[in-house]
Amino acid sequence: MKEFRDRVAVVTGAASGIGYALAERCGQEGMKVVLADVDQAALRRTGQSLKDSGATVLAVRTDVSKSEDVESLAQRTLDVFGAVHLLFNNAGVDARTTLWEATLADWQWVIGVNLWGVIHGVRTFVPIMLRQGDDCHVVNTSSIAGLISGPGIGVYKVTKHGVVSLSETLACELAAIDAKIKVSVLCPAGVNTKIMDAERNRPRELQNTAAYETAHPATIQIKETLRQLVEAGLTPAEVATKVFDAIRNEKFYILTHADWKPLVQKRMEDILRERNPDEAQVGPLKG
Ligand SMILES: NC(=O)c1ccc[n+]([C@@H]2O[C@H](COP(=O)([O-])OP(=O)(O)OC[C@H]3O[C@@H](n4cnc5c(N)ncnc54)[C@H](O)[C@@H]3O)[C@@H](O)[C@H]2O)c1
Repeated sequence: MKEFRDRVAVVTGAASGIGYALAERCGQEGMKVVLADVDQAALRRTGQSLKDSGATVLAVRTDVSKSEDVESLAQRTLDVFGAVHLLFNNAGVDARTTLWEATLADWQWVIGVNLWGVIHGVRTFVPIMLRQGDDCHVVNTSSIAGLISGPGIGVYKVTKHGVVSLSETLACELAAIDAKIKVSVLCPAGVNTKIMDAERNRPRELQNTAAYETAHPATIQIKETLRQLVEAGLTPAEVATKVFDAIRNEKFYILTHADWKPLVQKRMEDILRERNPDEAQVGPLKG
């Protein structure tokens, strides 16, 4: 996609962080922007702020883990703007715990948002894009955690590895039918957002008890290290610039943090040489 003006973008997780910056950038490019987020109050504030900056905006409260919400999002988009050209499957959350301590609620919540959210986005929007026949682009937000191994944030990593594989397959399948839809997968390391406070939007029915929250010292350690990485990270606006460069250049992998690439390389070499996953590969996660 090279032309953005008057085209329609849909951004999930648009009310904060990377999603907010992507939505803001869409507005600056002259796009009509559909903001989707589960956080109604933050969504309202985001809609107002983008409107104040001159963008054409539609805000639709959406829980991406629910297929019916994503289908309504698509319908509202078509009703109001008549098309969709650029889709950011970006909403994401993280529950930090060892794999054996993760509760069923942790698994359901994180897989629901991070993986089912992307699945629902692809199942719902790609057929619409195919019918349109115009130049379109889908950007799925994974993470550097979707490309490496090592201990920590296992539930999150499972979903983000899934998003990488889903995106690679989608890109190849669309290319095989000569579709005019390109795909990118965004794999950032630390970005200064509210991701460490993802629990603020965890649904009541998937909450853990307070006692559980303080259960494991390793969990607290990992959480603190991640908090430092996020606080010292790129700004969301810097990420949005890299994403738009990638869309313009039809670039699939968007690795925003070059200093993490050696860990990706190490994992790939471990696989090819059939070496066991290395506990040391956690690198920056150890602080
Ligand atoms: N911040 C980082 O360091 C970092 C690094 C790698 C990947 N990511 C990924 O970037 C994406 C955006 O996260 P962020 O860092 O901007 O965090 P953020 O918490 O600032 O923003 C996430 C947004 O997603 C929304 N959201 C949560 N659950 C939702 C649901 N069920 N349906 C719709 N919206 C929902 C939240 O309300 C919030 O507005 C996520 O997929 C995250 O995994 C972030």
